Amino acid sequence: MAAQRVWLLWRVGVFLAALTPLLFWSGQVAINAAGPEPGRYLLLNIGIGALWMLLLTLSLTPLTKLTRWKGFALIRRQLGLWTLAYATLHMLCYALFILGLNWALLGSEIIKRPYIIVGMIALIGLAVLGATSNRWAMKRLGKRWKPLHKFSYVILGLVLLHFFWVVRADMREWAIYAAIAALIMATRLPPVARTLPKLRHRLSRT
Ligand code: HEM
Repeated sequence: MAAQRVWLLWRVGVFLAALTPLLFWSGQVAINAAGPEPGRYLLLNIGIGALWMLLLTLSLTPLTKLTRWKGFALIRRQLGLWTLAYATLHMLCYALFILGLNWALLGSEIIKRPYIIVGMIALIGLAVLGATSNRWAMKRLGKRWKPLHKFSYVILGLVLLHFFWVVRADMREWAIYAAIAALIMATRLPPVARTLPKLRHRLSRT
């Protein structure tokens, strides 16, 4: 019972930690500290937040293998859903502050900024994964669930492409995220994945 309470606290703590950046950015807008373009401020920060959430979600499996700590596995679905929530809010910021809800502009916008299509495909992918992350969908999909959720790797690639297309001038920030993504993906390569439990044994001995 005590253990269950600790896990609940852990989950609630993660929930509050994931919510905090959104509250902070909204607060900055509310007190006029978000610069001359608060809409763009929200759009860009929430976009980076969505990428962070995706990277954190994908790092949980290698971290579980490395540490065997149950806590990482317990928050996987929650962080996956946070990724979807951040990405949806990012898209809503675009619709509200850039398009001004004028959907007639979308066609010319897509021609001007083709990376929007890449972002849209990534968001649709995240929505499919979010909708199939519950127990019912897991049961229904059976063996197909795992391959479907490996699509998250493709989504990560799409998001990095979307981001790459946006920056152009200074690639340093993008390169840091791409390096983190490459590291997380490398832990999934079978030879690397096999060494993680061995590394855990070695670490626990020292
Ligand atoms: C319908 C889907 C999407 C739309 C319409 C969209 C739109 C945009 C726009 C307009 C920008 C800013 C470009 C500028 O500097 O003017 C942007 C940047 C960005 N987006 Fe998206 N996006 C979408 C999906 C996503 C998703 C799914 C993610 C991540 C999971 C994401 C992550 C980012 C990141 C990291 C940036 C760069 C932020 C920065 O430069 O600081 N976007 N997006």
